[in-house]
Amino acid sequence: MKILVVGSGGREHALAWKISQSPKVSEIFIAPGNGGTRLHGTNVDIQDDDLPALVNFAKENQIDLVVAGPELPLVLGIKEALAKEGIPCFGPGAYAANLEGSKAFSKITMRDSRVPTAPFQVFDEYEQAKKFVEEKGAPIVVKADGLAAGKGVVVARTVEQAVEALDDMMVKKVFGNAGERVVVEEALKGEEASFLAFCAGEDYALLPSAQDHKAVGEGDTGPNTGGMGAYSPAPILPRDKYAETAELVIKPILKLLAERGEPFTGILYAGLMYTEDGPSVLEYNVRFGDPECQPLLMRLDCDLVEIMLACVENRLPEVEVKLKEETSICVVMAAGGYPGSYEKGAEITGFEEAEKIEGVKVFQAGTTYEDGKTLTSGGRVLGVTALGADLGAAQKKAYEAVAKISFDKAYFRRDIGNKGLKK
Ligand code: AMP
Ligand code: GLY
Repeated sequence: MKILVVGSGGREHALAWKISQSPKVSEIFIAPGNGGTRLHGTNVDIQDDDLPALVNFAKENQIDLVVAGPELPLVLGIKEALAKEGIPCFGPGAYAANLEGSKAFSKITMRDSRVPTAPFQVFDEYEQAKKFVEEKGAPIVVKADGLAAGKGVVVARTVEQAVEALDDMMVKKVFGNAGERVVVEEALKGEEASFLAFCAGEDYALLPSAQDHKAVGEGDTGPNTGGMGAYSPAPILPRDKYAETAELVIKPILKLLAERGEPFTGILYAGLMYTEDGPSVLEYNVRFGDPECQPLLMRLDCDLVEIMLACVENRLPEVEVKLKEETSICVVMAAGGYPGSYEKGAEITGFEEAEKIEGVKVFQAGTTYEDGKTLTSGGRVLGVTALGADLGAAQKKAYEAVAKISFDKAYFRRDIGNKGLKK
């Protein structure tokens, strides 16, 4: 089989790595890929939002399956565009992808399917949103409706902050169209966890729980990032709670979408907050998380391609999603300054030494390969990932590996996994 992976982050390196282990696969292409994906296939210079070029490439190269890494191509309708050419795509159609592409759609779908989520209201008018915020008081959460590269959520501690966020989104339009509509919702308190499932219509197969670290600084301080590290399983969501949690947050969504004639295929990712009243859904993503994908795929002990094919062929119950018992952890090494401005082009050394440690895999994210050198080219540069007998052992290995890698102005959090160790 020939597979095209769309995307360019650490998640896509992990996908290409895992896909390359499948005996079913003869060739892998990654569009546009990075310095790491080229180790498992051929990078193709097409951006993830260039649907015509992606479809054309898939057609001309007789691709058997397209795997969409990020949400953007899915929201833009890559599944439908490929379907016209008879090419299957692992990922949902544009309607279901709105679970991530539109916060208002997502919240309304949660309400319609009785999934626990924070009380909310949707606004198209700045004055009305402002009045609502002033009535409700702080803390309160303001979310731009559309895709805003992970920056469209403001957890406001004061009414002034919330009004400023509304002004930025609705008046100044800092996120363009994405902020013309906003969701305003109650602020929840608790610990977060990520819960992902392979889905095909109303069938699903669960992945183990994971926990991301969104804030840039140790102790969850500073601005939010795409994620500075993750590990699996997350003790806050133990295995004996997976089935009932899925009944609460996965099953009702799949059922509603199937009833609407828009069945969901791909990965459904529930971002959960564990409040005093139990889990509440903060958001859905319609793809693997980045960096959650890296530790999750390290634990996957079976053929990923077989599972993806079973999803697109609507026979998911036929396959078993087997997992390693060990714990895995991914520590992101970023370019100093991220998520603000940062430099590019620094040479990265020490991969080989790091990967000599048993159970360690270095996934590349913001990297390019030029003239025999691997250079930094993005904010999140590497995801240093390790498997260990338990969280403590995995963490120790991951940080030993991090210590062997260097590039100018490298930054990483030293406390990835600590929350889980405290449990
Ligand atoms: P989202 O993109 O909706 O997941 O939001 C990004 C981050 O904002 C989440 O991971 C949470 O840390 C935070 N967040 C979102 N919604 C809420 C909420 N209702 N209460 C508190 N924090 C929230
Ligand atoms: N790590 C969070 C996300 O992928 O959205």
